[in-house]
Amino acid sequence: MIPPKPATRPDRVSLWRYVKLFRQDILSAQPARLYRAWMAEFRSPFFRSYLLNQPDLVKTVLKERPMDFPKSDRIGAGLRPLLGNSVFLTNGAEWQRQRRIIDPAFEGGRLRETYPAMWQAALAARDRLAGQLGTGGAEVEVEEQASHAAADVIFRTLFSIPIEDALAQEVFHEFRAYQRSQPILNLAAFIPGPRWMPRFFRRDTRAAATRIRSLITQLTEARQKAIAAGTAPDDLATKIMTTRDPETGQTFSAAEMVDQVAIFFLAGHETSASALGWALFLLASHPEWQDRVAAEGRAVNADFASVSKLRVTRDVFRETLRLYPPVPMMVRETTRPERFRDRAIPRAAQMVLSPWHLHRHTRLWDNPDGFDPARWQTENGRICGREAYIPFSAGPRVCTGAGFAMVEGVLLLALLLRDFRVTTITNRTPIPEAHLTVRARDGIWLRVEER
Ligand code: HEM
Repeated sequence: MIPPKPATRPDRVSLWRYVKLFRQDILSAQPARLYRAWMAEFRSPFFRSYLLNQPDLVKTVLKERPMDFPKSDRIGAGLRPLLGNSVFLTNGAEWQRQRRIIDPAFEGGRLRETYPAMWQAALAARDRLAGQLGTGGAEVEVEEQASHAAADVIFRTLFSIPIEDALAQEVFHEFRAYQRSQPILNLAAFIPGPRWMPRFFRRDTRAAATRIRSLITQLTEARQKAIAAGTAPDDLATKIMTTRDPETGQTFSAAEMVDQVAIFFLAGHETSASALGWALFLLASHPEWQDRVAAEGRAVNADFASVSKLRVTRDVFRETLRLYPPVPMMVRETTRPERFRDRAIPRAAQMVLSPWHLHRHTRLWDNPDGFDPARWQTENGRICGREAYIPFSAGPRVCTGAGFAMVEGVLLLALLLRDFRVTTITNRTPIPEAHLTVRARDGIWLRVEER
C-alpha cells in the first residue's frame, strides 16, 4: 500500500485561490511539479520565494553559508507571543550565544543521563494505552496517545515531573489550546502581504500564550530556588540553567529561560508526537515490518545501550521521518543578491527548504512514495540519506533535539509494538495535512490489541 499523500493543486491558480488553498493546508496548496523540480520560483506583488530541492543548493543555505540566510521574520510572527526570544526565532550573535548554552545539555553523554526518564515515560505510555483496551482490543486515536507520550517525555526529562503532575497537565492543555488557535506556523512566509502588514493575533492566541508563559515561569522560578539551595535534580532544566556561556561566563536569566523552555515543550513534543503517530500507522499498514519491530522490541530495556541495537526499528523510524517529516518546510531569507541555477535572486527573498518535497523527490529517490525501511541499507538510500534527507534540518542550525528524538522515537515504537498489535481500520485512512507539524486531518485511528 502506498502511504497517503495529499492531493496537489493544478500548476496555475489565481493568487486568491492559492491563498485560500493555503489556509486549508500548506501541502495541498503546492503543485505536483515540486516533486521533480530542482528549484521553483513563486512571485507575488510583494516578495519572491524560491523552493530549493537541489541538494547542493540546500547545502549552501543550511551548511556552507548559514549566516547569510537567517531565519525569516515572517516565520516567527505566529509564534512570537509564545516563544519570545527563544533559540528557535533568534539569528546572528544572539542565536549563537543561546546555542552555546543549550547544546551541551543534548550531547551524547548527557543523553545517556536523560534516558532513565525517557524509559519511565515509555512504560507509562504503554500502561496508559493498555488501560484503554477492553478484552479483544479497541479502536484508538493514536495521535492523541502519541502527543501524551511525547509531552510526558519532555516533562520528565526537562523538569523531572510526570505529565500527571498538576502543573504539567495545565501546560499540556494550554499548548493544545494554543495550537488550535494558531494552527499554521509557516503561513506568514508564503502569504503575499507586504512586510509592514500588521500581523494580528487572535485574542485567544495571545491569552493562551500568556497563560503558558506564566505556568512555565512558575516552573523555572521554583527550579532556580532549588538550584540555589542545592536540591535540584540533575535533569535538562538544571543542566541548561547552570551552564555558563564559555565566551561570557553568563548563564541564562530567568526570563530567557522561560523562552527556551517554551520552545523545548513545543518543538520537542509536537514533532515527536507527529512522527510516532505516523510510524504506528505505517506499521499497521505494513504488518511484515510490524512483526520485525515487535520481535526486536523484546530486547529493549532500562539500559540506554539496548536502544542502539534496534536496527530495524531505527530504519522504520527514519523511513517515517522521510515520508512524513514533522516539520514539512523551513524558510530562510536572503541578505544580499544571490545567483542560484543561473537565476538572479533579490535581497530579502524567501528561500523555502522543503523536507516534504526533497524526501519524495522523484529524480533522487528510488520508489519515492513507497514505505521501504530496507532502502536505508541500499546504495540509493545511503546517498539520499546524506544528500536529500533533512528531517532535523542540517548545519549549525540543526535541531538541538535530533539525537534525543531518535532515541525517544525508537524506544517508544519498540516498546509499544512489543506489547500491542496495531491494524488499520477500513475507510479510516489518515489524510496528511501540514499545520504546526504534519498531522492527519481527522487523527490517526487504528485498531489496537494486546499482543
Ligand atoms: C522527531 C522529532 C523532531 C523533529 C523532526 C525536529 C525537527 C526540527 C527541525 C526541522 C528544526 C529546524 C527548524 C528550522 O530551522 O526552521 C528543529 C529545530 C529545533 N528543534 Fe527539533 N525536532 C524534533 C524534536 C525535537 C526535540 C525532542 C527537541 C528538544 C527537546 C527539539 C528542539 C529543537 C530546537 C530548540 C530547535 C531550534 C534550533 C535552532 O534554531 O537553533 N526538537 N527541529
